[in-house]
Amino acid sequence: MFEFTDDCLIGVNQIDEEHKGLFRLIGEMYELAESEWINDKYDRLCAMLARLKNYADEHFRHEEEYMEQIGHPELELQKKQHLEFDRKITEADAIIDGQNPDELLRDLLIYLVRWLYRHIIGSDLMIGKMISVEEWKKKSYAFTEKYLTGIELIDEEHRELFRIINNVHDVLANEFLADKYDEIVRLLEELRTYTKVHFKDEEEYMERIGYAGIEAQKTAHDIFTTRLDKMDLSEIDENQQETLEELMVFLTEWLINHILQMDKRIGAQAQ
Ligand SMILES: [Fe+2]
Ligand SMILES: [Fe+2]
Ligand SMILES: [Fe+2]
Repeated sequence: MFEFTDDCLIGVNQIDEEHKGLFRLIGEMYELAESEWINDKYDRLCAMLARLKNYADEHFRHEEEYMEQIGHPELELQKKQHLEFDRKITEADAIIDGQNPDELLRDLLIYLVRWLYRHIIGSDLMIGKMISVEEWKKKSYAFTEKYLTGIELIDEEHRELFRIINNVHDVLANEFLADKYDEIVRLLEELRTYTKVHFKDEEEYMERIGYAGIEAQKTAHDIFTTRLDKMDLSEIDENQQETLEELMVFLTEWLINHILQMDKRIGAQAQ
């Protein structure tokens, strides 16, 4: 569980190394919490906790600075999530000081690793890959060979996803279309419905072939679906075209990145 897998690589060297460091530190703490015959176990755990907190703080600072530099639209959301992780680490102090801390501490460490894994796959993966709305408008979204997994059903469904993405692109890039809101809402709904169908099919296929990376895939799919489900369009009123555009750029780039980075690996194993 504490192993850092390739699914977590985001492609920005320093950040990847720091993520590995976080996994390592939490893993070491877990091992120590599990061992029984160490006299100064809790002193050592306290020291490790302080190290973990410093390390995480520094890492989040680097990540946020990097996001700021590239003008990543998710910066505020990430800041909030990082604070959540910080708060959880702080809880460990009280646990170590309390009675019979072992079990609680182990639970907390498992929580931290799971959180980290989900956060990296759901949010950090997009850090090195976001483009501006202007660049996105100039991009073309043809479904070319490089997206093929070699699995017929999955490729067909990805082709359909590209069709929806292309429609989104056409609407947003069309300068002569004055009111894009209703059209985008309709396409968003289509994307929501279709990704659910597709993720389910893909997961069934992975189960059938006993695909090793299925958990990471399910996590990624779940994050995307939850995100779409939780979206409150009433918050985005008709004047906020900019917010809507940024959101569409994020969703479409996420999907394409997911196909290239994760789905193509399914095809590689299936062969
Ligand atoms: Fe992050
Ligand atoms: Fe897929
Ligand atoms: Fe997938």
